[in-house]
Amino acid sequence: MKISVIGCGYLGAVHAAGMAEIGHDVVGIDVDPHKVERLNRAEAPFFEPGFDELLAKNASRLHFSTEMADLASAQVHFLTVGTPQSPTGAADMTYVNQATEALLPYLSEGSVVVGKSTVPVGTAERLRAMIEPTGAKLMWNPEFLREGFAVQDTLAPDRLVYGISAGDEDLVEVLDSVYRPLIERETPRLVMDFATAELVKVAANSFLATKISFINAMAEISDQVGADVTMLADAIGHDSRIGRKFLNAGIGFGGGCLPKDIRGFVQRANELGVGNAVAFLGDVDEINMRRRTRVLDVLAEELGDLSQVTVALWGLAFKPDSDDIRDSPALDIAENLARAGAHVRAYDPEAMGPAKARLEQSGLGDHITLVDSAQEALDGSDALVVATEWKAFREFDPATVSASLVVDGRNCLDRETWKAAGWRYRGMGRK
Ligand code: UDX
Repeated sequence: MKISVIGCGYLGAVHAAGMAEIGHDVVGIDVDPHKVERLNRAEAPFFEPGFDELLAKNASRLHFSTEMADLASAQVHFLTVGTPQSPTGAADMTYVNQATEALLPYLSEGSVVVGKSTVPVGTAERLRAMIEPTGAKLMWNPEFLREGFAVQDTLAPDRLVYGISAGDEDLVEVLDSVYRPLIERETPRLVMDFATAELVKVAANSFLATKISFINAMAEISDQVGADVTMLADAIGHDSRIGRKFLNAGIGFGGGCLPKDIRGFVQRANELGVGNAVAFLGDVDEINMRRRTRVLDVLAEELGDLSQVTVALWGLAFKPDSDDIRDSPALDIAENLARAGAHVRAYDPEAMGPAKARLEQSGLGDHITLVDSAQEALDGSDALVVATEWKAFREFDPATVSASLVVDGRNCLDRETWKAAGWRYRGMGRK
């Protein structure tokens, strides 16, 4: 089938390559000519394990362009543009609206538009009204991929969600044929109305965010009473109703989805007059943001006045196996340390480029030195903060460097090994 994917960010670019991998002819459209050029050279514009290989392997069925006209012959159009956070906290719908407008001239009877962007509930119904006069149909098919696992999550998702309008049941067969190999493998596929499909996405992310903030709230309590939050998580996680996943306490969640999605959900619920139902997400957000200052508190407890200290910072990306620094707790910590007058020596295996660009804008570059290795970050430092749990950091041998204080912001180090090497170890919510 001939397919288009409009918006080639983390979601769209991987989706386009994934659709080519399962046998379709795909054109990916993006407004950024630099990104399009790189994708056409089978070069990933961001770090995502396995993505370069997927692009190269499917180059013959995959083309990227800045020209909407290049999607004219496609039957199915995936809408994967971003919905960034606007200053009010609501999702900014500019790109969704613009992409839909730009697509209209190429739609006709038989075309199917499949929305994948994370949107406020009610958006699909609004877009359906825009698209309807062309004779095309709309489906809503939220995406649940995780950065760092984007290829795997695209080719083998936990489930497929199809949102359709009443009377459009025949569309199920169209999307089934797009996802044929996944359907044949019996990936759970749930068909529902637009509003439910839109809600599935924000509800899933709200639940995950709540789970992380719950354990971080327990970390706050643990610090107060001398308990150990990792043991607590292990113990409650054995209850299969709770589960151990997403119970890692630390400096909290960041990235382009969880923080913005819970804020957008609160805004939308307020507009709908049901703000009370999700008011708790405000607490989830607050608990999460407090984690970022907790690291500075621990450093101040241990070292006193931060304006005189040099801190080695391992990690800038919001999570390992990604170069994404959007709403990254690690980068926030770097900037807060710089504002407190500390000198930061930071290293990340993949996010140095994006971090450099951001620091140039923030004007904090004088206080933050980006260095070339984990080892180099430690030179002349009074303490080490681990802010992203990259494998290379978890496996670093602390006995090979001179010991000082380590603040394990992700509770990811082997505490006993670090202590045995002479380091003073402070975890998050661990006595
Ligand atoms: C998330 C959802 O998981 C995914 O389904 C959705 O499609 C997009 O948003 P992603 O943003 O890639 O994916 O990252 P995720 O793995 O969910 O992690 C989000 C943040 O939570 C990271 O900063 C991570 O470090 C943090 N986290 C995760 C914790 O602090 N503790 C945990 O136990 C798990």
